[in-house]
Amino acid sequence: MNETFPKGFLWGGAIAANQVEGGWNLDGKGLSVADVATYKPHVDNKDYSAHASITKEAIEQAMSDPSDQWYPKRRGIDFYHRYKEDLALFAEMGFKALRLSIAWTRLFPTGEELEPNKKGVEFYRNVFKEMKRLNIEPIVTLSHYEMPLSLSINYNGWVERRVIDDFVRFASVCINEFDEYVDYWLTFNEIDSIHRHPFTTAGILSELSEKGKEEQDVYQALHHQFVASSLVTKIAHEKNSKNKVGCMLTKLMTYPLTCAPIDVELTQKKNLENNFYADVQVKGEYPSMIEKDLENRGIFINMASDDREILKKHTVDFLSFSYYMSMAESGNPEAERTPGNTVLGVKNPYLPSTDWGWQIDPKGLKIALIELYDRYQVPLMIVENGMGAVDKIEEGKIHDAYRVAYFSEHFKQMKEAIDVGVNLIGYTSWAPIDLVSAGTSQVSKRYGFIYVDADDEGNGTYNRMKKDSFDWYKKIIQTNGASL
Ligand code: BG6
Repeated sequence: MNETFPKGFLWGGAIAANQVEGGWNLDGKGLSVADVATYKPHVDNKDYSAHASITKEAIEQAMSDPSDQWYPKRRGIDFYHRYKEDLALFAEMGFKALRLSIAWTRLFPTGEELEPNKKGVEFYRNVFKEMKRLNIEPIVTLSHYEMPLSLSINYNGWVERRVIDDFVRFASVCINEFDEYVDYWLTFNEIDSIHRHPFTTAGILSELSEKGKEEQDVYQALHHQFVASSLVTKIAHEKNSKNKVGCMLTKLMTYPLTCAPIDVELTQKKNLENNFYADVQVKGEYPSMIEKDLENRGIFINMASDDREILKKHTVDFLSFSYYMSMAESGNPEAERTPGNTVLGVKNPYLPSTDWGWQIDPKGLKIALIELYDRYQVPLMIVENGMGAVDKIEEGKIHDAYRVAYFSEHFKQMKEAIDVGVNLIGYTSWAPIDLVSAGTSQVSKRYGFIYVDADDEGNGTYNRMKKDSFDWYKKIIQTNGASL
């Protein structure tokens, strides 16, 4: 058996514009849905839904508040000004790839302009130039929880079909302007999460939906995203044959709590639902059982006459996904529950959890890889995986052995999956540097190999510091996994 990962394996890290850049109102950038997300110190940090919920009133209040005090995503970690320093640190770790997103509102402040903001294009061109100089391959997400707020308010986000055109215009500019630098494109981050947080993902405010039609609107918006994703895939393929486009799924592994048939049945339902999104984007059609289920629930998706043909013709080249934890499922309503990545699931008694209650399950990653490869037979990429933890500085150092243990166990399982034949082409950790949490807007939920001196209120120097895990990951990349 080969000791190392496949030749050319894309080791690296992943970030998103709205969680790192800051500079929320600089150089012509417009407001995005992320810029109105508040840090809520009084909310239980394990209660995701309380963090994600937002009202029209809260949005209006945020829009008239020019400060960044309670809106940590407006600050990020100042990547906007410090990107050279951060890229240099990633290069020092030996990164082959960096997954990052382009903030739609830096290029199209309201989403409706016909021409892009030159300063926005210039910023990303400079970032990509620097990455090229450092030999870091960009993997670019076009939509990572940062759609223009204006589209959300005016059209209830992706619910209105016209947003497809706005997005395609934005994506085309990215594909054309950055053709020289970018080969790997991802359309929508965790496209399935539209059901769990419709505002962050798709700008949907349930208050704007007709009463009783809230769910219908979410499915309609999702359909528009599917179509947009296919249209963008087409454009990328036509632009340059080297372009590879991927979909991006939150891989939510669910196990039956016991072998009671009801637990198994409920688990099967969850897992089928989780695969639905990749089914559409990889196979090019809605699974017949999903269509039946929608019909049974009285949900009717409005489709244009050629939508199905578009979905079928322009499928993705590879499947990327995030993997953080697994959940159990049970027919017993009393079963103990625990939080995970934007979900609440049944607690698995065999698994430890992070400080935020997410269950740590490296073996689940191997199971996910095998299941996904068996089902889709396209190259796979893990584009998010990591643990949010409280880090302590001791005599100027951060000894994050828990993080090393987390990654090391996950990498071993990836290797085992590769050894049984899974075509895994890359891995980008979430996140290589501390950033603002998507769910809770905390910086103190730390993910990085690199520490950022900032707290949840925005105090600190924002200086960077290497944690112990920095050198450990550097060695993994240097030896292509042989040092595991
Ligand atoms: C994924 C998102 O769901 O989870 C990231 O794509 C996010 O944007 C990551 O940061 C971790 O979640 P959180 O809430 O801890 O930031």
